[in-house]
Amino acid sequence: MMKRLPQEIIARKRDGHQLEREEVEAFVSGVVSGEFKDYQSSALLMAILLRGMTHEETGWLTEAMMRSGRVVKLPEITRPKVDKHSTGGVGDKVSLILAPLAAACGLCVPMMSGRGLGHTGGTLDKLDAIPGFSTQLDDATYRRQLLEIHQAMIGQSADMVPADRKLYALRDVTGTVESIPLLCASILSKKLAEGIDALVLDVKFGRGAFMANEADGRKLAQSLVAIASSMGQPTSALLTRMEQPLGRMIGNSLEVIEAMDCLRGEGPEDLMEVTYALCAEMLRLGGLEADAAAARTTLEKAIQSGAALEAFRQLVEAQGGDPRVVDDYERLPLTDHCVEIDAENAEPLYLARLDAHGFGQAACVLGAGRSSMEAVIDPAVGFELLKKEGDLIEPGEPLVRIHFNDATKVDRVVERLRLAIGLSPEPVAPQPLIVDRIVG
Ligand code: URA
Repeated sequence: MMKRLPQEIIARKRDGHQLEREEVEAFVSGVVSGEFKDYQSSALLMAILLRGMTHEETGWLTEAMMRSGRVVKLPEITRPKVDKHSTGGVGDKVSLILAPLAAACGLCVPMMSGRGLGHTGGTLDKLDAIPGFSTQLDDATYRRQLLEIHQAMIGQSADMVPADRKLYALRDVTGTVESIPLLCASILSKKLAEGIDALVLDVKFGRGAFMANEADGRKLAQSLVAIASSMGQPTSALLTRMEQPLGRMIGNSLEVIEAMDCLRGEGPEDLMEVTYALCAEMLRLGGLEADAAAARTTLEKAIQSGAALEAFRQLVEAQGGDPRVVDDYERLPLTDHCVEIDAENAEPLYLARLDAHGFGQAACVLGAGRSSMEAVIDPAVGFELLKKEGDLIEPGEPLVRIHFNDATKVDRVVERLRLAIGLSPEPVAPQPLIVDRIVG
């Protein structure tokens, strides 16, 4: 086939055609080589978001992105190698808890994550809050670390999945995140390059997720599982609700603190429920536990014994971070200022809505996320939720503590938070967090 120009490929997708395999591959290699300029890549991403991709095109995109860098094989590792990935949420610090916890329970977890995307937070940004922590490991260090401490948390690089590194950053700031083929290719290209035996996916739906409703979340889960399975990767997905932020902390340092609280056995119920369910699924897929109940007992023991927290300390140390943060949270970047807001209610009312999307956007305005590719994140800022949906709120009771550095942003942030909070005179029944399990 004659090699098409970037603008011809963009126009074909704009007009609703299925791209040829060669066109998809030309796009991915052009992103890495620079032949596709950022504005052309952004235009094609938007065309894909609007026109969609067939299952075949999505598979080609995933494979081309995976092959844009080094694809690791880890034959030297005898433990089952299992990873998990989330499709993105607000307050979702599960990876920080789950990797050391799973390693403490006998798995090897080679985890490649991303930065914040849209209104959602990213594992790499959270890890960057730990002084000295590096998420860029060379091949030899990555392998040695997996052999020695059975876990590594890295990011896309010039060497591994460079196409996702570029496209991820562009999608973040061009309104092109909420596309099933782009989500699938981004997530699976990273996971399939890691050298794992099995994969567990946390597919989120709701106000704070990229899929707004359960039906779309299910479609995304089915597509992820089908593509991963067709590429020979045993995969299962949990469909989980993301209406209010997960846990109580939003913001990079604050979420590292909450993750360490969880590893100490002091985590909030909703966050632990999702973490245990995903980790149990990993133990099952890895062949270490026969059923969810047995897995849960193993996981709880690893937290109670301190083994999981110790594994986190080892991870921080191995990747150049200051392990003293584990016992001294003040060593993390923290703000000098806090302010609390209430709901301005004159009578007792129930908290009916803590809109995760609104909180995620407000966190970006505060500086915890990016509004352009060049934006610099403030790791210290964020929100502490003092109440969660369903709680009864007395007049004047504080709902949210805002940790800030730049006072000029606070009014805009408070305005957004007020819109994200809803009260009701009627008690609010909690909805189940974990809705389904989808297997290949
Ligand atoms: N996580 C990823 O790695 N990519 C996405 O597109 C969304 C979540």
